[in-house]
Amino acid sequence: MKITAIAPANIAFIKYWGKRDAALRLPANASFSMNLSESYTTTTVDFSDQYREDEVIFLDDTITGSERKRITSHLDRIRDIAKISTRAKVVTKNSFPKGTGVASSASGFAALTVAASNAAGLSLSERELTILARIGSGSACRSIPDGFVVWDKGISSDSSTAHSIARPDYWDLRDVLCIVDTSMKKITTSEGHESVESSPLWKSRLESVDVRMSRILEAFEKKDFNRFGETLEEDSDSMHTVMQTQTPPLYYWRETTVMVMKAVRQWRVDGLAVYYTIDAGPNVHVLCESHSENLVKKKLSELTGIERIISNAPAKGAHIVTDHLF
Ligand code: PMV
Repeated sequence: MKITAIAPANIAFIKYWGKRDAALRLPANASFSMNLSESYTTTTVDFSDQYREDEVIFLDDTITGSERKRITSHLDRIRDIAKISTRAKVVTKNSFPKGTGVASSASGFAALTVAASNAAGLSLSERELTILARIGSGSACRSIPDGFVVWDKGISSDSSTAHSIARPDYWDLRDVLCIVDTSMKKITTSEGHESVESSPLWKSRLESVDVRMSRILEAFEKKDFNRFGETLEEDSDSMHTVMQTQTPPLYYWRETTVMVMKAVRQWRVDGLAVYYTIDAGPNVHVLCESHSENLVKKKLSELTGIERIISNAPAKGAHIVTDHLF
């Protein structure tokens, strides 16, 4: 059967960095994110006896051997559950540049999980889909439910699931994403998660992250944007100081990244409610409420070195569509 799914990328306000179990991708802490309306992956999966082996095609992009292996391993997991041995053809495309910290693995594995499980004849619950997507690529579980999503740390594979805490229309936030560099990063997040304990700051991040989680959820409930923004910016800084003090160190920022961070802080001093957060890449996600969106975009467009600006609203999670890619 041929099925196509679309899944959004997500931006974490409280980040997932470090695992308790590498194989099952159980996180060291709970995380909280928003799905992004303009940054998504579309994937068509067809299981059929006409394929002698799994075929994986990235439209508009090349695929590495290790990416192919990760995708076919995920298909194996789904075949195991569905008790089939049929090979598949997978065709996928992103609406944004791959491998730049815009979490293409999150939207990619969420879309693959939904398309492949349905194409294999399974009808998994949202909870089951989040578990399967998580095993494919940790943060992918947050791209399954709608809108604003919490991924629970859990105590086992079955309890480390993601669920929506608010629909996309709950709060008209904007993630104005500044693409500053589209070259591939050298160290994958999987490798980064593995060496997290080498940072002397890792323990203190773990001690403080749950406090930030409670604080941000309270601010979210009250729609207190300044408290919300302060907390997400603090968490991003906390994750990046851990990354930069790991062995080997992970320096994801470029000069333009730091320039945007400083500009955002200055705009705040000038009275504009705006905050940044950065994932495992050089691009800066600038958060504001929708009434400030145009002003924020204008100010960003006046800075030099930004390649592209993509403004994202909160979005629904992974879902099936009827238009196939092949
Ligand atoms: O899901 P992974 O293994 O690509 O890890 C993602 C980690 C960050 O993007 C840096 C933070 C997060 O929570 O999304």
